[in-house]
Amino acid sequence: MINIAILGFGVVGSGVAEVIKENSKSLSDKLQGQELNVKYILDKRTFPEHELGDRVTTDFDMIVNDPDIVMIVETMGGSHPAYEFTKRAIEAGKNVVTSNKEVVANFGTELLDLARENNVNYLFEASVGGGIPIIRPMWQCLAANEIESVTGILNGTTNFILTKMIDENMDFSEALKIAQSLGYAEANPAADVEGLDTCRKICILASLAFGNTISPDKVHCEGITEITLSDVSAADMLGYSIKLLGRAVKGDKNTYVITAPHLVSYENPMAGVNDVYNAITVCGNAVGDVMFYGRGAGKLPTASAVVADIVDIARECKKAITWTVAEKDPVCDYKEAKVRFFVRTDDKKANDLFPNCVFCTTDEGYAFITEENTESALCEALSKINVLSKIRVL
Ligand code: HSE
Repeated sequence: MINIAILGFGVVGSGVAEVIKENSKSLSDKLQGQELNVKYILDKRTFPEHELGDRVTTDFDMIVNDPDIVMIVETMGGSHPAYEFTKRAIEAGKNVVTSNKEVVANFGTELLDLARENNVNYLFEASVGGGIPIIRPMWQCLAANEIESVTGILNGTTNFILTKMIDENMDFSEALKIAQSLGYAEANPAADVEGLDTCRKICILASLAFGNTISPDKVHCEGITEITLSDVSAADMLGYSIKLLGRAVKGDKNTYVITAPHLVSYENPMAGVNDVYNAITVCGNAVGDVMFYGRGAGKLPTASAVVADIVDIARECKKAITWTVAEKDPVCDYKEAKVRFFVRTDDKKANDLFPNCVFCTTDEGYAFITEENTESALCEALSKINVLSKIRVL
């Protein structure tokens, strides 16, 4: 029997218990007859109706001091006390599996080092892309490549909201309420709609891809709160959908990392990624583009990724992931990167100032897509006209 403890019995933690129970036979087959046993659940709440209700405790010390526990599943969310519990668990020689992108993005370097020193695993497949396998494929299956770029729709809640706005003309707040009721949104959904959740996830992928710590506090981050139905319909007229993207592109000297809404051409398969689905395109110098697609949030998809990590550890797969702190900050100033902007304006001067662009007429004036230039040069040029909105183009 393999004894585990689950820290946090919310949407994901209870999903982990459910998958372990529902798939017990096939999991046991994969573990040569051994069974996974949830010995403890750490939560401030009680769950008297749940069949594992008698395993619930508020005593972390009891869990971390129990020699029977070989693995701790951290599904608490938030940085604290999740970070402190993770650290203590690793120092006590326990393997840790997490879905907590906030902890991985902010403390991943330290915790991965600590896990290596203590000869245990710290695995976080569920921290990015919900049920989509992305961490292990990038670390193992794409190991032959130098990664050139990673581009992802990484937040189910905002993709769900944008899809409802685009397809059903639904109001932003109504769509958010549905996403919350389906268990997609963060406890504080500001982290979803203001882009921070996507930012944490692209930082995890960029650190993995390029081998250096990329911290969310170094990355420019915009959410979807400013996107209007007028943007959506003008983008559509030009042949684009609007998606919140995390992007990381390796440059000669440093790395361009950004979280922001982007126009995505209908010819790009990312434009067809809707609802709670996430997609990540990884470009490797040998393989070219590889795209990963699946449910990016929700109870059972996320639990699927957590339980896969549990199985990996139970099979004693030790393939420690690592990245290191670079001597110089690897992230470039996003304003110096070359981009194109989709622009909506009601200013007639736009035609003269951007003579090479194709304009379309909208309810409020015009929309066009700029030629490629540095973001700072484009913003300077755009400061001469009245801009109703501007969104980067993929
Ligand atoms: N709030 C997150 C999302 C949950 O909507 O994608 C999964 O990380």
